[in-house]
Amino acid sequence: MDNPIGVFDSGVGGLTVAREIMRQLPGENLVYFGDTARVPYGSKSKNTVLKYSKQIVRFLQTKKVKAIVVACNTASALALDDIAKEIDIPIIGVVKPGAKMAVETTKTGNVGVIGTASTVKSGIYNDYIRELNSDVTVVSKACPLFVPLVEEGLIEDRVTDDIVSRYLQEMKEYNVDVLVLGCTHYPLIRNAIKRFMGDEVQLVNPAFETAKDLKELLVKEGMLNKSGAKPSYEYYVSDGVESFMSFADSVLPVHVGDTQVIDIESF
Ligand code: DGL
Repeated sequence: MDNPIGVFDSGVGGLTVAREIMRQLPGENLVYFGDTARVPYGSKSKNTVLKYSKQIVRFLQTKKVKAIVVACNTASALALDDIAKEIDIPIIGVVKPGAKMAVETTKTGNVGVIGTASTVKSGIYNDYIRELNSDVTVVSKACPLFVPLVEEGLIEDRVTDDIVSRYLQEMKEYNVDVLVLGCTHYPLIRNAIKRFMGDEVQLVNPAFETAKDLKELLVKEGMLNKSGAKPSYEYYVSDGVESFMSFADSVLPVHVGDTQVIDIESF
């Protein structure tokens, strides 16, 4: 089945998920949408994130996608369940795969979760993790400054190390042995996070786990693209093509060609 997989995010962060899909499913065609005009989602209400996500899903369906990956943790937390009830193609988010991996990885039963304010407020990681194992204790913390730090390119920078230590001090005090990077941008500063948390704390990257789950799903449903053709990648945004393209080039293993602007409000 050579129809593309639709991947969407509030902006550029979901490219970390697209990157994992490209690596783990190199035969699949992708259509990526980044809602760069309306980012961030991480401080918005459920109603707003749901409305935006529904518009994006309608847009992706015009591209005849065979499955959808909600690459944004906030949209996975606030919109995925409602959308899944309304469409008849498979749709997966990043939260469940990340929660599952956290439960499989922890030895002490103390798991930390970091994400946007809206993801943390939703409590969704706690719910999924405790559904899988009610003996696990979850400590969550919103880290709103991480997104702008990454978007400013301050990946290896003293400022980032300072903010990491300020946000994550309490994770150390709770003695977590697993920390879920519950936001698209956080895997890009994983070195700074690792430096502060130490080697004994395992970092879970939901992007990686999601690509793995997507592969399993496509195999199970007989939906893998077996055409053997070189994959095609299409990129769409709601604003700011140039900054999207330069960020995408720094994240993806391939050069990002044409990126088109879509009037997402019209969907
Ligand atoms: N993509 C968002 C997430 O993973 C982070 C950026 C935003 O706040 O929109 O939660």
